[in-house]
Amino acid sequence: MFKINENYQKLPGSYLFSTIAKKVSAFTEAHPDKELIRLGIGDVTQPLAPAVIAAMHKAVDEMGDAGTFRGYAPDLGYAFLRDAIAEHDYKLRGCDISPDEIFVSDGAKSDSANIQEIFGQENRIAVCDPVYPVYVDSNVMAGRTGVYDPKKETWSNVIYMPCTMENGFVPEFPRETPDMIYLCLPNNPTGTTITKAQLQEWVDYANKVGAVIIYDGAYEAYISEGDVAHSIYECEGAKACAIELKSFSKNAGFTGVRLGYTVVPKELKCGEASLHQMWARRHGTKFNGAPYIVQRAGEATYSPEGRTQLKEQVAYYMKNAAAIKNGLKDAGYTVFGGVNAPYIWLKTPGKMTSWEFFDYLLENANVVGTPGSGFGPSGEGYFRLTAFGTYENTLAALGRIQKL
Ligand SMILES: Cc1ncc(COP(=O)(O)O)c(C=O)c1O
Repeated sequence: MFKINENYQKLPGSYLFSTIAKKVSAFTEAHPDKELIRLGIGDVTQPLAPAVIAAMHKAVDEMGDAGTFRGYAPDLGYAFLRDAIAEHDYKLRGCDISPDEIFVSDGAKSDSANIQEIFGQENRIAVCDPVYPVYVDSNVMAGRTGVYDPKKETWSNVIYMPCTMENGFVPEFPRETPDMIYLCLPNNPTGTTITKAQLQEWVDYANKVGAVIIYDGAYEAYISEGDVAHSIYECEGAKACAIELKSFSKNAGFTGVRLGYTVVPKELKCGEASLHQMWARRHGTKFNGAPYIVQRAGEATYSPEGRTQLKEQVAYYMKNAAAIKNGLKDAGYTVFGGVNAPYIWLKTPGKMTSWEFFDYLLENANVVGTPGSGFGPSGEGYFRLTAFGTYENTLAALGRIQKL
């Protein structure tokens, strides 16, 4: 008789957004006349930039011509894209990352879930709490997280680093020493981040204790403050301890196009073992490359027109973020984030739990948000709204919340 991976049985309930989707569809079935505004899932709404569309059209035409047709892409990504990434995301920021340290992928979700495969089972992971749920869940599937405590909603073998209003959403060095530290900065869901000097302290800490940092920079394009690092490799010593994950989903609206990359520096070693070589082996074995058309689209995001158009797109969402943040403040809410990320993190009013506030908002304002507790135990009592809606919907949702 075959056996299953029992670790999957340990996963509590369904993925956060499936639970939300079920609640929302039950509500719409019961109230077909109500028009919902969705500021829940972090999905973009603006169309792809013209420079991206032009590049995709051109690439489609190339695929239709025997002379320029391309089959399997190189597993690690086309040189034209890796060169553009190395130049714009690293060299121009003073980071010494070479194109062959960049692994092109179909997005940061899969990379953030897959990266743990190259690490030993016995490693202890540390995560900010609250955070993007994929880091913990993928480690549960791998059997690295110990026993689940349904009351506390924590895993015995995971080190949680609370990020709450009490500590200004800045993770503190844990009492127990972790082996793998996940940092998502700017953070999903809190929309907050830390300064470059604070990130440097984390790099120094990781190098001191022999931990690896898995740094998810999916929201890097939204950073507006000058003292915040755009890449962990801006910090000294980061190449010896950090892997960086990036996505084209939020800066370029590629959520439905699918493109991302991971940087594994050659300096990153465990004894004699090169993590760069291990990830190259893993990528080569399990991934057949992001599509040519999509990689050309990615390249176009770095062209002069592409960069200008994407800056405008980010500014559009950040205008929404400012409207939500200021509007909620005026309505008496305590709000965070929204300055270096397209997420607004609010304290639920009164003594409402995150899910109680979710139901309250759904039923009374017909607005869908995301309960903070779905991102970790320290998210209880908080709620996330995204700035990824249209400006009109954002203002309409805000008006409804202000009337409550
Ligand atoms: C922190 C973080 N990392 C990764 C992702 C997923 O990125 P991608 O669309 O590239 O898979 C998300 C999506 O919401 C995210 O919030």
